[in-house]
Amino acid sequence: MFPKFFKTAAASSSRSSYHTFRTAANNSKRRAAAAGLMGGAGLTAGFASAAMCEGKDYTSDIGLVIGGLLLGGAAGWYVQSRKTDQVEERYATYWPRKILILFGAPGAGKGTQAAKIVEELDLPQLSTGDMLRAAVVAGTEVGKKADAAMKAGELVSDEIVVGIIRDRIKEPDCAKGFILDGFPRTLVQAKALDEMLAVASGESVNSVLSFEVPHSILEERVCGRWIHKASGRSYHISFAPPKSMKRDADGNVIPASMKDDQTGDPLVQRADDTKEALVKRLSEYSNSTVPILDHYRSKGFVYNINANQAIPKVWKEVQAGLKNGANK
Ligand code: AP5
Repeated sequence: MFPKFFKTAAASSSRSSYHTFRTAANNSKRRAAAAGLMGGAGLTAGFASAAMCEGKDYTSDIGLVIGGLLLGGAAGWYVQSRKTDQVEERYATYWPRKILILFGAPGAGKGTQAAKIVEELDLPQLSTGDMLRAAVVAGTEVGKKADAAMKAGELVSDEIVVGIIRDRIKEPDCAKGFILDGFPRTLVQAKALDEMLAVASGESVNSVLSFEVPHSILEERVCGRWIHKASGRSYHISFAPPKSMKRDADGNVIPASMKDDQTGDPLVQRADDTKEALVKRLSEYSNSTVPILDHYRSKGFVYNINANQAIPKVWKEVQAGLKNGANK
């Protein structure tokens, strides 16, 4: 069933996540087949008891039900097998299990491409920015501490974000790999991540996609961004407008017309998506975050992406990066 290299890869360091997947897949195939069989068995029992009560001959109907029962079981098995094969193909294409960092300046397009990677690889996206914004809205202790720094475009303390990630990667959905969006952002965070992965599973980050853009284009990207709070879906008044967007006679966007394509909910702008906060965010990026790239480049898995092109073209480069690992 599996390509040989896939079997070999499966025997490597990510053996446990592979086995978790195989066990879950086989269980779900069995459950689907059992559901088909049980449905048929229920129908057969119904016919048998009706026959006993009424004294009628339901033999041919029971034969039909038994046939349906077998077909139902086989169909359940087949459908689950197809699903499992698709996941296996994904594992094989993008092997090994990805511990992936999306790296880039504010507005470079990390969140936009992360949504596509989530769909393609079925991996969770761990965005520290989204988690911190959720904490601010929920009014938690972490949220209270992070709020002012975020609005000003400053970094939140290493201690807080490292704590958030340390907890998050222990969740079961991270067993198959995960996408780090906005973390690590300082060398202290990068080293803390190395240590927590080494201790937890003996693994390390194995892919960094670096989104390269000239900083001069970022003001337009960031100040034109609108988001759907519940899902994190991101829009842009020029590059990715929602279907509902309307402009007034002067060409200005009418805020009330900004609605999410899928739910119709109103879209919002982030408190730090201002020209003033962006200046601070870019300086934090250049001073604290860019040096991390050397830390990972020396390990040979940084893939540079030209993020100053249309979204679908950036996606093509992202896919190449996911398959090929490094170009720098
Ligand atoms: P965070 O939420 O991580 O924000 P960020 O890194 O500044 O990145 P953005 O979300 O602004 O940009 P993006 O690259 O995802 O761009 P997007 O795809 O949306 O962090 C926010 C704050 O939280 C930080 O400032 C800090 O205070 C705190 N924080 C978070 N993590 C932290 C950490 N680890 N340590 C300390 N503090 C932390 O795209 C932008 C816009 O452009 C969108 O409108 C999109 O539609 C559009 N667009 C995208 N791609 C293209 C394209 N190719 N062409 C045209 N338009 C495009």
